Amino acid sequence: MAYPGSTLITRIGELVTNDGDPPGPAGRPGGAGGPGRGAPGPGAFAAIADAALVISDGMVAWTGPAARAPAADAAVDAAGRAVLPGFVDSHAHLVFAGERSAEFAARMAGRPYRAGGILVTVEATRAAPDAALRANLRRLAAEMRSQGTTTFECKSGYGLTVRDEARGLALAAEVTPEVTYLGAHVVPPEFAGDPAGYLDLVCGPMLAACAPRARWIDVFCERGAFGAQEAAAVLAAGRAAGLGARVHANQLGPGPGVRVAAEAGAASADHCTYLTGADVDTLASAPMTATLLPGAEFATRHPYPDARRLLDAGATVALATDCNPGSSFTSSMPFCIALAVREMRMTTQEAVWAATAGGALALRRTDVGHLGVGARADLVLLDAPSHAYLAYRPGVPLVAAVWQQGRLVAGTP
Ligand code: NIG
Ligand code: FE
Repeated sequence: MAYPGSTLITRIGELVTNDGDPPGPAGRPGGAGGPGRGAPGPGAFAAIADAALVISDGMVAWTGPAARAPAADAAVDAAGRAVLPGFVDSHAHLVFAGERSAEFAARMAGRPYRAGGILVTVEATRAAPDAALRANLRRLAAEMRSQGTTTFECKSGYGLTVRDEARGLALAAEVTPEVTYLGAHVVPPEFAGDPAGYLDLVCGPMLAACAPRARWIDVFCERGAFGAQEAAAVLAAGRAAGLGARVHANQLGPGPGVRVAAEAGAASADHCTYLTGADVDTLASAPMTATLLPGAEFATRHPYPDARRLLDAGATVALATDCNPGSSFTSSMPFCIALAVREMRMTTQEAVWAATAGGALALRRTDVGHLGVGARADLVLLDAPSHAYLAYRPGVPLVAAVWQQGRLVAGTP
């Protein structure tokens, strides 16, 4: 049977579908798998050799061996190359002005990373006209897309006034539905003597202005930013306003972030660099993703998070870029995959799963991160025969073409 208006991608050397059965007990997303078959959304890492895929109506209509592929209206010859689900970058800060390359260079010369650098970007962002913020945001979004990212989250957090946070979210909503209110990034200078007053603003008038534009609320729970009680208050206020919770947790040192995230029912605890055994147990047992952001450790010289320990404990792990001008100015999911494999002891399958299905779970999305029938036709064609090349050939632009909802949006197949 032919699917109307369909495109067949055939002679795929390796088609990564992420629709495998879970290795462990069914029903719980595992480190190497998702909810498993029967449940909507991604399953475990799975791939088909010598495969084909049919796109119809912006969705995956069929996958299987190329020899058994149905007819379609148009065809693309993958010529033995690999096709993967589009990357899901579940953590990025893209609404900002300016850059901080001098800070990076100083760190590489031995200076430590400090959360206070955020205020440099806050000042530049407040001073920037909408058009400048929009142009920077769109440039970064295009950069992501050309490297295979088909879903991304975008936070505010460099405005820190009611007006600037609300405009940051309005701009973010122009490029993605995964918009996160991060008024609780740091306390801005005008509230330096009154952090409680800033918290009231974040949970009161600023939230009221921002909630209609956002899906998520986030808080930087860290020494020098917000403590456990403050973070819990921010997440509770967000929840009352209809926002889902996510947390910057345990990035720069040990702390309460992971516990606070679990208690708030957060979709994801992000960073997870400094974890106690109790934190690992919490991440393994809570219905929450541990989102690791190796670009931040790369650019701050902090130790990489121990992905192996989390995976072995049974936690669900996602990888994301944390793209921002201070701690991680990369928009490249392939770079994060390569770091995760080389520096965090993830297998190539685990890293690719974490950058696709893991990101989808971190955003509580079932339509992306996998290529099961009915999934959104968000796909990446690599100029390589297998997913392993993303780590095997680090730094090489391997993304040949990108489809979003079945439409070619970057590259040439
Ligand atoms: O995720 N941790 C807090 N926020 C960002 C850093 C932002 C910045 O340095 O500008 C992060 O690393
Ligand atoms: Fe971040």
